[in-house]
Amino acid sequence: MRVDCIINGKNRSFEVDPAMRLREMLLINGDFAVRDSDDCEGFCGSDTVLVDGTPVFANLVLAGEVNGCEIRTPNGLGSSQNLTVVQQAMIDAGLVQSAYNVPAAALLLTWLLENNPDPTKEEIKDALSGIFIRDAGYENYYLAVQLAREKIKTGKYKTTIAPSFRPELDIIGKPTAKIDGPHLVAGERAFVEDYVSNDACHMVVLRSPHASAYINSIDDSEARKVEGVVEILTAFNTPETHYMQAGQGNPEPSPHDRRLFNMKVRHVGDRVAAVIAETLEAAKEAVKKIKVDYEVLPAVFTVEEAMAPGAPLVHNGIVEYRSGAPADFAEYNSKAGDPREGKVIYQFPLHADIHRNIAASNKGEIGNVDEAFAHSDAVVEATYQTTQIQHTPLETHICFARMEGGRLTVYASTQVPYHVRRIVGWVTGLPENKIHIIKTRVGGGYGSKQDILIEDLTGYAAYVTGRPVLCHNTREEEFIANSTRHPMRVHVKMSGNKDGKITGIYMEVCANTGPYGNHCLTVPMNSCSKTLPLFKCDNMRYDLKVFYTNTPPAGAYQGYGTPKGTYGLMMAMAELADKLGVDYKEMVLKNHVEEGYMLEILKGLGEGREGAVVPVGSCGLDEAVRKGCDMIEWGKKVESKDPDWKIGKGFAMIMQGSGLPGLDHSEAIAKLETDGTVILNSGGADIGTGLDTISAKIVAEVLKLPMDRISVISGDTDSCAFDTGAYASSGTFFSGNASLVAVNKLKDMILAEAAYQLNEPKEDLIIQAPGEVRSTKTSKTLSYYELSHTACSGGGHGQMIAHGTFVTTASSVPYGAHFAQVAVNVRTGEIKVQKFYALQDAGTPINPEIAQCQMYGAVMKSIGHTLYEDMKLDKDGRCLTANMTDYGVPMISEAPEDFKVELIDVNDKFGPFGAKSISEIACNGAAPAIGIAIHDACGVWIRNWPMTPEKVLKALGKI
Ligand code: FES
Repeated sequence: MRVDCIINGKNRSFEVDPAMRLREMLLINGDFAVRDSDDCEGFCGSDTVLVDGTPVFANLVLAGEVNGCEIRTPNGLGSSQNLTVVQQAMIDAGLVQSAYNVPAAALLLTWLLENNPDPTKEEIKDALSGIFIRDAGYENYYLAVQLAREKIKTGKYKTTIAPSFRPELDIIGKPTAKIDGPHLVAGERAFVEDYVSNDACHMVVLRSPHASAYINSIDDSEARKVEGVVEILTAFNTPETHYMQAGQGNPEPSPHDRRLFNMKVRHVGDRVAAVIAETLEAAKEAVKKIKVDYEVLPAVFTVEEAMAPGAPLVHNGIVEYRSGAPADFAEYNSKAGDPREGKVIYQFPLHADIHRNIAASNKGEIGNVDEAFAHSDAVVEATYQTTQIQHTPLETHICFARMEGGRLTVYASTQVPYHVRRIVGWVTGLPENKIHIIKTRVGGGYGSKQDILIEDLTGYAAYVTGRPVLCHNTREEEFIANSTRHPMRVHVKMSGNKDGKITGIYMEVCANTGPYGNHCLTVPMNSCSKTLPLFKCDNMRYDLKVFYTNTPPAGAYQGYGTPKGTYGLMMAMAELADKLGVDYKEMVLKNHVEEGYMLEILKGLGEGREGAVVPVGSCGLDEAVRKGCDMIEWGKKVESKDPDWKIGKGFAMIMQGSGLPGLDHSEAIAKLETDGTVILNSGGADIGTGLDTISAKIVAEVLKLPMDRISVISGDTDSCAFDTGAYASSGTFFSGNASLVAVNKLKDMILAEAAYQLNEPKEDLIIQAPGEVRSTKTSKTLSYYELSHTACSGGGHGQMIAHGTFVTTASSVPYGAHFAQVAVNVRTGEIKVQKFYALQDAGTPINPEIAQCQMYGAVMKSIGHTLYEDMKLDKDGRCLTANMTDYGVPMISEAPEDFKVELIDVNDKFGPFGAKSISEIACNGAAPAIGIAIHDACGVWIRNWPMTPEKVLKALGKI
């Protein structure tokens, strides 16, 4: 049928199939910023367009329905070189981060302001009610509207965007538009899907319907007859190389316990086969025709089931050690089961025992905890349980790979380009010089794109077929086949005296890693190593065990174990204060660490090796606690007029890290181009967090150059140098420091070359804005343009290129405190977060407005984890909530009414210009702060998340 319509002011005609969706038609028109995040479920709003002035989801409208209509799409707003006021306000407010559906949000705000120039908060909330934002939160959308209104009315902003830090610096610590903001908000080419060529084959994976089964045989003969099928990959025709998918430094503290395809499937959704075909339809049809003969096995889903005597074993094959093999491992292997179990290979011992489903373990103690418990005024003991939750990035996992000139090029939405290259190299057998990873913009990662979950198979498929291959996960695959947060059972025993002093802490952590051991040691370690060091306590013991089960896999997730440890420890501390009759605030102030305190507990908490005992460095914890208590009026009871609603307050202190000292490694290359501009090649991976902007600001600050004369190329393994990647809160601290080392060297080279060209001593030369060298003796100046042009034109020493490497054993720890005021309805169990204040010490916030949005986003995520989100499995291990609607992420209507973030001003000794990390830590506070507030409101401790109305009513004894 024919559709005539107007798209972004231009008359258009299309011949469409009656079943074609409007979004498909718009993609044909080139409107690729109309994206899909949920397989046409109608939840995320990434496909928002205006049809005759009304917002609709383009996936839910048939193309035939818009005949004669006027359509506006995000691509019809301003281009990156000609932004609208709304687009610019969104960048300036710090909202343009991973940005997968930011263009859709820009369209909604534009529509709102065109129809209502002075919207109220409720009206803004209503306009954004149909769009899901995971990265930057919702709060600064109110700011963006305010900024846009001011600009439209007066030509300038009146409202302060964010606080500024370090007045002695020009650009560091000041709100400055994110350098990739314009093209992201304008919806221009940015993500993997925008780079896929027309000749791409599609890969669709056949997934296991069973939680545990051997594969007896696979018959793909009928599937291969489907027209367009290029190849079908299974365990029977792919390498037996054992590896792991965790993106960690090599040697990895995760076991190599899987192949591309295993002969035993270990969870519902596990890979069985992959069809590569010339069309998506052909690949899907062929998948249905593959016949698999399974030998179904019993399965385990919880740590309790996994640890039970005689439990079915998730892995029961041969174990190997690359180093540190125990003396009895040959005897251990004599108990191995069916050869289809495969192998588990350890790079070094993880204190695992696959015959008891233990993937890793660790324990340690300082002082004498039992003695402390025996001689204290009070002891509390409780178990805190967390469930399985998923990252839900707006952009599902996607990878496009092709062979070019005898090399394999992989377009990846990844946090770890260099780890992707290494692991693709392992599975293909290609050396690293034959693999090129191009990290595109990343439409949300939060840890899930730290793991190499589809790049391994996509790279292999392109390599063996010689055809370009695209793999794009469905939303359901994100839930059942990607990584999730490890469910954990945190048992805490804590003792204290009537003076409020904590005397002993015992933490037992049992984590569920699912079928494979990605991050199985390090995530649970973090639940101790990023929590116990908050306390000045001489007697502490931890004991952690990680169990294999047949649930969907677990992996890295923003916060990396710490949110769960913090939940257990801070709740237990509040329970102890309650039992002792001591004010919780006073107890926190009495027991928290401060600068200089030696952290003995860290000696056993390295990443699989001896940890370093270090003193607490720069620390804004005390200020965060005191200031936050003042803001929330700690101790002042708030009463509701409605007797059903009870109001309470709670808070938690939090910490994280800034990368992994002694393990992480970052490099950068700074080049002065012949016109005096600078290109910085950073190995760091900007995943929407503004790392490229941080690098550019560091260059601008050191070289006194305007930002528009600096370009940052990052995350490209051909043109940049090695970086371990964007995880463990390392971006600003490690990659930023590498940029600082490189640009300081470049500055030195500039001064040396200028000394040569001016024939003056280097010591007499300084650099000054806007990018020139000046002699303090003769006042002569030499612009970078003149300097570099001469250097590269036979009159100097050639192009100035500096290489910076950063490694350190220094530890820069961000601290903070998060506060909640909640209202609990004791008749229905409903919980409302009325106030949330997040106070954090990030050292020098290099991009304050982006930092604030990351805090808003991370807190919203953790409010979701605390109150709503839950991957429910049925008795056979099938996920019952593998879509956005059933899973339950928070939308703008779930945001706290009064929501504030504050950056505590601390200047760190080791971070670039005093910076520490910012966003991971912000995931750690909501669960204990809300849990403690619920107790303050209605007297019950909710010891497992999500804290649902049903659990509240049960705890109140009402059901
Ligand atoms: S239907 Fe709106 S993002 Fe998929």
